[in-house]
Amino acid sequence: MSHAGEGVGHLGVLAGAALLSTLWFLWQLGWAPARVPAAPPALTVLVWHWPFADQPPELSSDTCVRYGVPRCRLSTNRSLLASADVVVFHHRELQSRRARLPLAERPPGQPWVWASMESPSHTRGLGRLGGVFNWVLSYRRDSDIFVPYGRLEPHAGPAPPLPAKSGTAAWVVSNLQERQRRVRLYRQLAPHLRVDVFGRASGRPLCASCLLPTVAPYLFYLAFENSQHRDYITEKFWRNALAAGTVPVVLGPPRATYEAFAPADAFVHVDDFGTVRELASFLVGMNESRYRRYFAWRDRLRVRLFGDWRERFCAVCTHYPRLPRDRVYRDLEGWFQA
Ligand SMILES: *[C@@H]1O[C@H](CO)[C@@H](O)[C@H](O)[C@H]1NC(C)=O
Ligand SMILES: *[C@@H]1O[C@H](CO)[C@@H](O)[C@H](O)[C@H]1NC(C)=O
Repeated sequence: MSHAGEGVGHLGVLAGAALLSTLWFLWQLGWAPARVPAAPPALTVLVWHWPFADQPPELSSDTCVRYGVPRCRLSTNRSLLASADVVVFHHRELQSRRARLPLAERPPGQPWVWASMESPSHTRGLGRLGGVFNWVLSYRRDSDIFVPYGRLEPHAGPAPPLPAKSGTAAWVVSNLQERQRRVRLYRQLAPHLRVDVFGRASGRPLCASCLLPTVAPYLFYLAFENSQHRDYITEKFWRNALAAGTVPVVLGPPRATYEAFAPADAFVHVDDFGTVRELASFLVGMNESRYRRYFAWRDRLRVRLFGDWRERFCAVCTHYPRLPRDRVYRDLEGWFQA
């Protein structure tokens, strides 16, 4: 029995060797034994109106490749409506009616994306948009195309040195309205904590490239969102505070939301304190060893900002293959205000 089995085994080895050498021979001839599947064709993403601009930025054919997304073409050429794989509409221009939905010319089955990075408090006119859009692109984690304002990514190598500190707390604010929770909180904090205020609202406007060097010498940055909404964490947290090398004091969604994005000890949350006075004395009483712990994340993570609309729109292609084709936001307003 074992003898016969060995014989079959030898035959198998010989047949295998013959097959391998044949394949090797074919390969030498330039044959592929199994056809490599053809790359899927490029997707065309038509951006109906460029956000906050009449002129789009330069959109070359490799725009998305630069963001690590191959086979994805962004265009603002409206002649492509009939052929685009997907069309994206930025809300602000729909709200102001600078742009109108080409409902009559919409090809059957063409997915439309509603895009916005603003909070519900600064979003109007959603009521008339029910039943139009298939997918949502926003900072909300439950968006079809989730595009946060920033995130922490693993990073090896030494952390950049912390900026030298010479001030306590800085705040940059361009639009100051007394009814906003962030303004009320600032008014309550100011008697107990020195806060240096910059930005248009304070009469000390900052140029775009001046912001980071201006706030970096402060121990804390008041990363107060203009309104408090689910997942609404903006560049105030990612750029003005974390990327600048200051500790964010956050007013926004609950602590648990921030902890989904950043280590629990990377920020101070105003909800951690029963009163504004307690918050102020915690900040004023900070010592160096405790302060340094807020930056422990810098040894293994670095801030990645997502501020460019081109990168956000390229993300449509990344998600496209697995987005549900039969989804329709019948009550977009209800979804967004939730
Ligand atoms: C827009 O696309 C159409 C159709 O492909 C093309 O003929 C036209 O030249 C394009 N316009 C611009 C400004 O690129
Ligand atoms: C720093 O502050 C922390 C918390 O208040 C305290 O536990 C620690 O003893 C302080 N360290 C020094 C060196 O004062």
